[in-house]
Amino acid sequence: MKKIRMGVIGLGGISNVHIGGTLKSPDAELVAVCDIDPDTLKVKGDLYGIPENMRFTNYHDLIACPEVDAISNCTPNNVHKEIAIAVLKSGKPLASEKPMTLNGAEAEEMYRVAQETGTKHMICFSYRFKAAARYARHLIQSGELGTIRHVYGQYLQAWGEFTQMPKAWRYTKAVTGTGALGDLGSHAVDLVRFMTGAEYEDMVAHFGTFVKERPALSNYKMNYDEKGQRKYDKLVDPPVMEEVDVDDFSHMMANMTNGSSVTFEITRFGFGRGNYQRFEIYGSKGALVYDLDCEGTNEDRLQACIGSFNGQTHQFNYVPIPDQFKTDQMQSFFDIINGKGDGMPATISDGYINMLAMDACEESAAEGKWVKIPTKV
Ligand SMILES: NC(=O)c1ccc[n+]([C@@H]2O[C@H](COP(=O)([O-])OP(=O)(O)OC[C@H]3O[C@@H](n4cnc5c(N)ncnc54)[C@H](O)[C@@H]3O)[C@@H](O)[C@H]2O)c1
Repeated sequence: MKKIRMGVIGLGGISNVHIGGTLKSPDAELVAVCDIDPDTLKVKGDLYGIPENMRFTNYHDLIACPEVDAISNCTPNNVHKEIAIAVLKSGKPLASEKPMTLNGAEAEEMYRVAQETGTKHMICFSYRFKAAARYARHLIQSGELGTIRHVYGQYLQAWGEFTQMPKAWRYTKAVTGTGALGDLGSHAVDLVRFMTGAEYEDMVAHFGTFVKERPALSNYKMNYDEKGQRKYDKLVDPPVMEEVDVDDFSHMMANMTNGSSVTFEITRFGFGRGNYQRFEIYGSKGALVYDLDCEGTNEDRLQACIGSFNGQTHQFNYVPIPDQFKTDQMQSFFDIINGKGDGMPATISDGYINMLAMDACEESAAEGKWVKIPTKV
């Protein structure tokens, strides 16, 4: 079968996952790259051996290129919508990064275009591809836990404490939408829907910002090391500081359509934590604990205390995860394109619901009240 010829727009950190997944798939090949930054385009174009005529600084040119069959959108959040809509209108399948857009209004626009065009797509809520999360979903949805009562979810990272680093776009509302909430919380909010199958009815949120200004990016010159990793050389000392206008942490509670009560602890100030996630799920007949990167290994694991394992003894044990739950994000995208999708990856409808939940949390944090969320779009 002919390989899917992939073009990737935005060649920063997450593009490594999209490109890596493309290079290891038997179903696809990387043929084109795009970045508005010419240095980044050169470094990444050289690294992956992309010919000059398949390197673009304008995403419209990559989308229009007849040698490109499908497209990854790995740009910052403020350009997700415009690029996604252009790709959807072209009819070329789209894998677009999360959070889907800056807010619910943008998400609605993207959703309408997806409905009109019917273009194949996936929103990259990456933790849907963790085998432990998929197995948890299977056990929950096959009734092993009985009625779900609670989910206690944590997603903790530590890099907020790195206050000497140049201010990333993730600290500027106009580019990112929300801070820790959109960056980490969007994954957590999606994962609870994915694992339990329940929808959000209403949410309440408390936001905080510990570090209110950071060294402006304009103090630095961006360079690359020999491995193609970005580094920043300081030009101005002491650096000019810039305001941070988004949340460093977001703590939320939610009521779900299945009657369960959910809490979330989301922060960039979890000292020592790399990419730590832990979701404890309690039902009337059993409980599960999904965790990721607990010991800094980036491994996903599942503990169970349920009838078929050890429910009688009230013990939690790590359970082996059957091979059928193991998968890969980009391979799942290629399966969608080849008509072999398993229905598990997030769609634009899922991304839209997710953005409505993000909006509800922002409104709640600003106004100190519970905010309702539409349970379907
Ligand atoms: N799924 C996940 O787990 C996960 C993890 C990390 C990041 N992300 C998401 O991926 C996206 C990118 O994050 P990142 O960490 O790679 O950012 P990054 O800053 O490292 O890279 C973004 C790149 O996009 C380029 N860019 C900006 N505007 C562009 C445009 N109009 N056209 C072409 N290129 C453009 C920038 O020059 C930069 O090279 C974000 O939405 C982020 O939330 C998702």
